[in-house]
This record gives sequence, structure tokens and C-alpha cells, in this order.
Amino acid sequence: MVDSADYIGAWLPFAKHTRAVEDTLAFIDTTLRSFAAGSEVNAGIWYQDKLVGTIGLHINRSNQSASIGYWIGQAYEGRGIMTRSCRALITYAFGELALHRIEIRANMGNTRSRAIPERLGFQQEGIIREAFKLDDEFNDSVVYGLLDREWPR
Ligand SMILES: CC(C)(COP(=O)(O)OP(=O)(O)OC[C@H]1O[C@@H](n2cnc3c(N)ncnc32)[C@H](O)[C@@H]1OP(=O)(O)O)[C@@H](O)C(=O)NCCC(=O)NCCS
Repeated sequence: MVDSADYIGAWLPFAKHTRAVEDTLAFIDTTLRSFAAGSEVNAGIWYQDKLVGTIGLHINRSNQSASIGYWIGQAYEGRGIMTRSCRALITYAFGELALHRIEIRANMGNTRSRAIPERLGFQQEGIIREAFKLDDEFNDSVVYGLLDREWPR
């Protein structure tokens, strides 16, 4: 997603610094190791035979909880691809992984990102003050939570 790197980087600073093939290979290597260790599930999002984004589940086994992170190429926004991807990952997390709780944190000003947990029935649980540093400014994060029993099956 090199062509969306600046756009994604406006919310996820790592995107500004990961443009080379080596960066992608290192990311794949790290995520495969985390998957083998049971601490993460990362997936590419494919749309019409193109890799358009990624989604990841960061797992805390002791608490049977996880958080979800995501990004998609700018050209593929607005089609519900990420909402559908989250739905699939959540179903997997509560089903296969038997997790109890899933969290999504988004920057207060990131309306598109916040719309996803809101659309999927997460509860807004709180605001973490000045938790995320973006362009030398500390931004508030909004925490959304969803429990296993709240997920429609
Ligand atoms: C956050 C991000 C993934 C949201 O992407 P998105 O395309 O808006 O999200 P969705 O795939 O859920 O699409 C929702 C849009 O598709 C529309 N849509 C179409 N079909 C839909 C469907 N079947 N289900 C849900 N929404 C659908 C919705 O109405 C909504 O449209 P709107 O933008 O006009 O309101 C994207 O903006 C992004 O990658 N941003 C940069 C990185 C980032 O901020 N990551 C998150 C950090 S916390």
C-alpha cells in the first residue's frame, strides 16, 4: 500500500516509515512468529485479487481478551470491506479462539475508524487521555469493548 502510506500514516505513524519490500518481509516474519506463539493473528485483506489492507488481533491469553487493529488503502475505503473483515475476525476470535472480550481503540478524531466498532455494536467504554502521540501531539483515544455474549450468532 505504498501509494496510501502518507494517508494511512496520518493515523498510524509506522506507515510513514515502512515503504521498502524489506519492511514488508520483516512485518510478515514478525507476524508469523507471533501467530505461532499464539499472541497475534494478522491477515491480509484481499479484494478482487488485490491485497488492499491488513487486520490484526493482538491477544492476551490470560484474560481471554484481544484488541483489533486495521488499515485499508485509501482507494478501497467506503465499501464496507473493513467492517466485514472485522466481523469475520470477531467471529473467529469468539468462536475458534474462545476469547471473552475484544477491544478497539481509535484516535478521538478518527471518525472512520470509530464508525467501525460503533457499527458492529461495541460499547464506548471510555476515553484514554493523551494516549497516542501523532505528529508531536498527544491525542485522546476512545476505547470500545465487545463481550462474547453480546456478539450475535
Ligand atoms: C479506518 C479505516 C479502515 C476505515 O475504512 P472504511 O472503508 O471507512 O471502513 P468500512 O470498510 O467499514 O466502510 C464503511 C463505509 O462503507 C459503507 N458501506 C458500504 N457497504 C457496506 C457494508 N456492507 N457494511 C458496512 N459498511 C458499508 C458504509 O456506509 C461506510 O460509508 P461512509 O464512509 O460513506 O460512511 C480506513 O479509513 C483506514 O485504513 N484509515 C487509515 C488507517 C487507520 O486509521 N486505521 C485505524 C487506526 S485506529
